[in-house]
Amino acid sequence: MKLIVAIIRPDRLNEVLEALYRAEVTGLTVSRVLGHGGETDRVETYRGTTVKMELQEKVRLEIGVSESFVEITVQAILARARTGEVGDGKVFVLDVNQVYRIRTGERDEQAVTPAGGQAGGHAVGGAV
Ligand SMILES: Nc1ncnc2c1ncn2[C@@H]1O[C@H](COP(=O)(O)OP(=O)(O)O)[C@@H](O)[C@H]1O
Ligand SMILES: [Mg+2]
Repeated sequence: MKLIVAIIRPDRLNEVLEALYRAEVTGLTVSRVLGHGGETDRVETYRGTTVKMELQEKVRLEIGVSESFVEITVQAILARARTGEVGDGKVFVLDVNQVYRIRTGERDEQAVTPAGGQAGGHAVGGAV
């Protein structure tokens, strides 16, 4: 199991969500965050040159997936979040030791696989 953490542009979110849905990755958490990409912004002031970190609005995705869904999830984000301009963001892939589904107490692979199915017949697989 992995936790995929992606920092993307807010205006790429809908495209990324659509691609993830098509890949049957539907368990995720989205947060609005502020970020800085590591560039140094030098600002001239009357006292000389100072440095400040300009924070940009970004969106953070957290997606817990079983191993077989890691690659398709990462590729969906890379393909749909990219503009080619500075600030497109990052994708981090973290090892996950344990997953628990709070409702049932199931753990690990059983907790990762959606339980009970969904109305409408959309087959969900792999995402927490
Ligand atoms: N090392 C990092 N750790 C966490 N978040 C980062 C890191 N580097 C960049 N980010 C996030 O990614 C956003 C986009 O910047 P970045 O990934 O540096 O784009 P680029 O490389 O195209 O300049 C930043 O605003 C920040 O939210
Ligand atoms: Mg950067």
